Amino acid sequence: MLASLHFDILTIFPGIFDGFLSESVLKNALDADKIRIHLHDIRDWADDKHSKMDDRPFGGGPGMVLKVDRVVPCVEDVQRQRPTPGRLLMLTPQGKPFNQRLAESLAHEKRILLLCGRYEGFDERIRDLLKPEEISIGDYILNGGEVAAMVIIETVMRLLPGILGDEDSNRYDSFSSGNRLLDCAHYTRPREYRGLAVPEVLLNGHHAEIDQWREDSIQKRTAEKRPDLLKQNVQPD
Ligand code: 6GU
Repeated sequence: MLASLHFDILTIFPGIFDGFLSESVLKNALDADKIRIHLHDIRDWADDKHSKMDDRPFGGGPGMVLKVDRVVPCVEDVQRQRPTPGRLLMLTPQGKPFNQRLAESLAHEKRILLLCGRYEGFDERIRDLLKPEEISIGDYILNGGEVAAMVIIETVMRLLPGILGDEDSNRYDSFSSGNRLLDCAHYTRPREYRGLAVPEVLLNGHHAEIDQWREDSIQKRTAEKRPDLLKQNVQPD
């Protein structure tokens, strides 16, 4: 089978991805060629191994800035390696918030480039020249975009056909376009643990009653934990 989705990760710390790429669902997807992930070390675009990837900001101030003359040639070369340049995502805390809806749109792509920042940020001319889509995974600051790239790959990958085994397992996921509510409560054996029993209705085999119980659990949990979702739910996208 042809790979359905090709990711290129551009980073100055490719080693961060070692464990992530060699375990569990992602390893199986890579082995089965359902997705492809190519790691590119931005340092390979330096003139020599000792030359700097980052430099002090003009005008002064703390931290270091990723250099435009390293990052832009790297991205352009990687884009030219395949027939289509792909959708270029720049991972920064200033980006558009990542969510399930954005993941669904990315799952339709053939090729996605994930450009990971570090230090204080990117030289602004990297944005001017490459016009990337800037994405953030939430309102907090990470040391770099590498963990965000993993979040995006994992979220998108599990939406692809044939990845999770059970074709239905993500159709009703929370936050997907068909469902803005939280999942219901789940139980498995033992039937009783430290005096806590599994709700009787789940054991009686009446499917209509079980469905009703699950619907009630969804509403109750969402009202308790994420009342904001119940309000959003009545609004169209
Ligand atoms: Cl994508 N990068 C960094 N450095 N911090 C973040 C982020 C990304 N998303 C949330 N915080």
